[in-house]
Amino acid sequence: MMIDVDQVKLLIQSRRSVKPNFYTTEIVSDEIIYDMLESARWAPTHGLTEPWKFFVFSGNYKHKLADFLSELYQLKSSVNFLQTKYEKIKTNILKTSHVIMIGMQRQINGKIPEVEEICAVACAVQNMQLTATAYGIGCYWSTGSMSTHSETKNFLGLREADVCLGMLYVSNYTGEIITPKRTPTLEKTVWIKN
Ligand SMILES: Cc1cc2nc3c(=O)[nH]c(=O)nc-3n(C[C@H](O)[C@H](O)[C@H](O)COP(=O)(O)O)c2cc1C
Repeated sequence: MMIDVDQVKLLIQSRRSVKPNFYTTEIVSDEIIYDMLESARWAPTHGLTEPWKFFVFSGNYKHKLADFLSELYQLKSSVNFLQTKYEKIKTNILKTSHVIMIGMQRQINGKIPEVEEICAVACAVQNMQLTATAYGIGCYWSTGSMSTHSETKNFLGLREADVCLGMLYVSNYTGEIITPKRTPTLEKTVWIKN
C-alpha cells in the first residue's frame, strides 16, 4: 500500500492545539466526532487491551460537565480559589462544540503496565487530533481544569484503577494559530551507526 508521505507529513505538522478563545459557535457534526473516535480505535495497543474509554459531552450535557468541574475546583482550591478560574472552567467548556473526556481503563489482570496503557491512550488521542486536523476542525488536549482529578474519574463512572487523562476540546474555529517552535530532530536523537 502506498500513501503519499508528503500528505501524511503535512497532516502531522499542521496539527495545532487550538484553544477555546479561537472557537466559533458553529457545532461540529456528530459524524466528524464519530470519525475521530473511529480513528482512535486504530491506535497501537500492547496485548490488544484497547485501554481507552471516551465520554463525549455535547449540547446541554456540557452544562453538567462544566458545573461538575467548576464546583470541584471550588471545593478543592480553598484558599487559592480564584473566581476568574472558576468562571473560565465553565465558559471554556460551554463555548466548545464537543468535549471528549479521555479515560484509561486498566485490565483486571493488570498484565500490561499502566504506563503502556497510558501510552496507548495517548496514541488514540493523537489519531483523533489528526483526524480533526484533516477536517479543518480545531482541538486541544487539556489536562487542566480538574479534568485529571480522581473525583472526575468517579463522575465518569471509571473504576479505582482507571485514570482520567484529561479532556479533548473539539470545535470549529477562526483565526491564525501560531506554530510553536520545535527542537531540530538531531538534537533529540542519538543515532548509533557505523
Ligand atoms: C498530554 C497533554 C496534555 C496537555 N495539557 C495541556 C494543558 O493542560 N494546557 C495547555 O495549555 N496545553 C496542554 N497541552 C497542549 C500543549 O500545550 C501543546 O501541545 C504544545 O503547546 C504544543 O503546541 P501544538 O500542540 O500546537 O504543537 C497538552 C498536551 C498534551 C500532549
